[in-house]
Amino acid sequence: MPLLDSYNRRIRDLRISLTDRCNFRCFYCLPNGEPPLARKETILTFEEIAYLSEIFVSLGIEKIRLTGGEPLIRKDVPKLVAEIAKLKPAMNDLALTTNGFDFPRHAEALKLAGLDRVTISLDSLKRENFLDITGVDALEKVLTAVGSAKEHGFEPVKINAVIVRGRNDNEIVDFARFARDHALSFRFIEFMPLDSGHEWSREMVVSGREIRDTIEKVFPLKLKETSRGSETAWKYAFADGAPGEIGIIAPVTEMFCGQCSRIRLTADGQIRTCLFSTTEHNLRDIVRGGATRTDIVGFIENAVLKKEPRHYINDAEFVMPSRSMSFIGG
Ligand code: 5AD
Ligand code: SF4
Repeated sequence: MPLLDSYNRRIRDLRISLTDRCNFRCFYCLPNGEPPLARKETILTFEEIAYLSEIFVSLGIEKIRLTGGEPLIRKDVPKLVAEIAKLKPAMNDLALTTNGFDFPRHAEALKLAGLDRVTISLDSLKRENFLDITGVDALEKVLTAVGSAKEHGFEPVKINAVIVRGRNDNEIVDFARFARDHALSFRFIEFMPLDSGHEWSREMVVSGREIRDTIEKVFPLKLKETSRGSETAWKYAFADGAPGEIGIIAPVTEMFCGQCSRIRLTADGQIRTCLFSTTEHNLRDIVRGGATRTDIVGFIENAVLKKEPRHYINDAEFVMPSRSMSFIGG
């Protein structure tokens, strides 16, 4: 039986955070490098992750994305990828989100292990601004990672940029040009209140609409599909037929929760049914407590039934989740 939540949404997409640690300090995520909440023993082992992935896939999960924190901080990620890749073809899309810093070293092993796709975070194309946003002087390294991902045939290579007023909104057109020049799928993401520094404010959000209008003044766009299914991004092609793709992800101003097909597993083994969940489901203790496979399946099904109908960012009562994206898994 596939996983269905209580609003009849079919859950097909699992995001697994491999660690809450990161070698970057992006201000929109974990600016102060807060001490990791989880202690080593609470972090799921790769054996546990592989075992749980197999169960999730038997319940209808088709897409798995490995995230963090920075997932490549953990040793032997290609080994985990190889284990999870054994779940193909039932699981038909295995992806990784990375800040790119260590990616080139692992690109080949990841490809051989069966990774299908990679998303690299890139929030500025200017060295100074990149440093200012991420806390690390690593623009060159990340650009190398983008090239490496292309060379190793990860298609399409996706780039994530969180657009924040006053920080990188003046680079929107440059990002679009970069997407054309390098045939990339460039995703512009609205800033969400998920930063551990609690700096988020509505004024800092650049709406998806404004992002699109800014790009279109220079590069007219053509919507690719009129429905985005359970995808988060509206995807556009360049109207002049140039290579590359623009994705606009507007969770704040154009909520897409009604179509959500995602759940998350944190590095310390908690199921989170929404980025903005205020409760978690402790799958780790179930697994480590000697539960049978049937118990685990029951626990997952039950957690999914509690999936929230939507986020409440735009409601007066909104409470920011206590964990930042680095913990929850992007
Ligand atoms: N708002 C929007 N996106 C975020 N990410 C992290 N924090 C935020 C936030 N506050 C996304 C970035 C990054 C991915 C890992 O998570 O796109 O690339
Ligand atoms: Fe690290 Fe990603 Fe957060 Fe940046 S956004 S600090 S790369 S976890």
